Amino acid sequence: MKNILVTGGAGFIGSNFVCYMLDKYPDYNLYVYDKLTYAGNLDNLRSVQDNERYKFLLGDIVDREMVNQVIDDNQIDTIVNFAAESHVDRSILSADAFIQTDIVGTHVLLDAARDHNVSRIHQVSTDEVYGSILEGLFKEGDPFEPNSPYAASKAGAELLVRAYNETYDLNTVVTRGSNTFGPYQYPEKIAPLFITNAIENKALPLYGDGLQVRDWLHVTDHCSGIDVVLHKGVSGGVYNLGGGNERTNIEVTEMILQYAGKPLDLIAPVNDRPGHDRRYALDSSLLMSLGWKPAKTFEESLEDTVKWYQNNDWWWKPIKDGEFKEYYEQQYGDRLNSS
Ligand code: NAD
Ligand code: TYD
Repeated sequence: MKNILVTGGAGFIGSNFVCYMLDKYPDYNLYVYDKLTYAGNLDNLRSVQDNERYKFLLGDIVDREMVNQVIDDNQIDTIVNFAAESHVDRSILSADAFIQTDIVGTHVLLDAARDHNVSRIHQVSTDEVYGSILEGLFKEGDPFEPNSPYAASKAGAELLVRAYNETYDLNTVVTRGSNTFGPYQYPEKIAPLFITNAIENKALPLYGDGLQVRDWLHVTDHCSGIDVVLHKGVSGGVYNLGGGNERTNIEVTEMILQYAGKPLDLIAPVNDRPGHDRRYALDSSLLMSLGWKPAKTFEESLEDTVKWYQNNDWWWKPIKDGEFKEYYEQQYGDRLNSS
């Protein structure tokens, strides 16, 4: 492994992964290929922009010709695919871009990997492909029961990955990550939205009864899990990647307010999300058997994350004061006015 193509590497987890890999492996070159949608941001990669082993390439994973060209030009031997439309609430507004990027784009990458004898392609997937589980933990062999258009598009992508491994013996691995939080996360997801709203003394719009459960994972632990599977996973392997930190949304919200030093009355219960999954919970013992474990407790990681947003408003304020405003009004305007 030497020349790694990181598709979607200007987004939240992808950019953290690029920094992690450049730091950990002094002989790897990291090529970020990203369309720079609303969620892609070169500010996420500012700390490595002068690194000789990093290069940014603007492009769409759906663009077959360009993907092939990039793989040829840079002698790519490994692909890690983060590129996706990634937000459930946006997929409920319209699923078109999700089908294109998550499914068609993954198909293009699989064909390109096959045509160029790429030695391994890693698909970054999600626990949401399983749907919701009220008791117990999802294991890798459990069936797909996706409930949102986002989850369905990620499940479709994964099925193609599986088929290319079975049919063409393409060397593939998949990680199914749980809800991730940390620096450089676009403020549409609950953690950065609630942290930055708290900093700005704005309401925290909590959906429904707030008793939905997610399994929280710090972004650095998500990156280290991908690293372990990329290097040690078996071809065709699928690995759950969960932090083992099940918390209700109300618990997470109260912790954020505590760490931010803000009052609980900022919490604003609003209308629930349609098709809202009640609980996600993963059994990550297969990945742990390869030597992976989270570096810090959930409490430490969340407190660090709150501090990061407190200290880095240069990063999130232009987003929230810019194009995010229209989405926020569309998503939350009526909900907050009637709460
Ligand atoms: P993100 O939305 O922050 O970033 C997505 C990136 O993909 C952006 O940089 C965007 O510009 C790029 N992109 C979108 N469409 C593209 C296209 N057609 N061609 C090239 N680039 C394109 O997402 P994230 O939160 O960093 O998630 C990364 C991956 O991890 C996704 O595949 C997501 O499904 C998965 N995942 C995310 C979480 C989470 O909690 N955030 C959890 C588990 C799995
Ligand atoms: P989110 O960060 O969108 O991740 P996902 O839907 O992929 O799990 O949401 C996490 C949880 O927080 C989910 O149960 C929905 C809830 N939520 C709110 O209550 N209010 C919000 O404004 C958002 C964005 C999410």
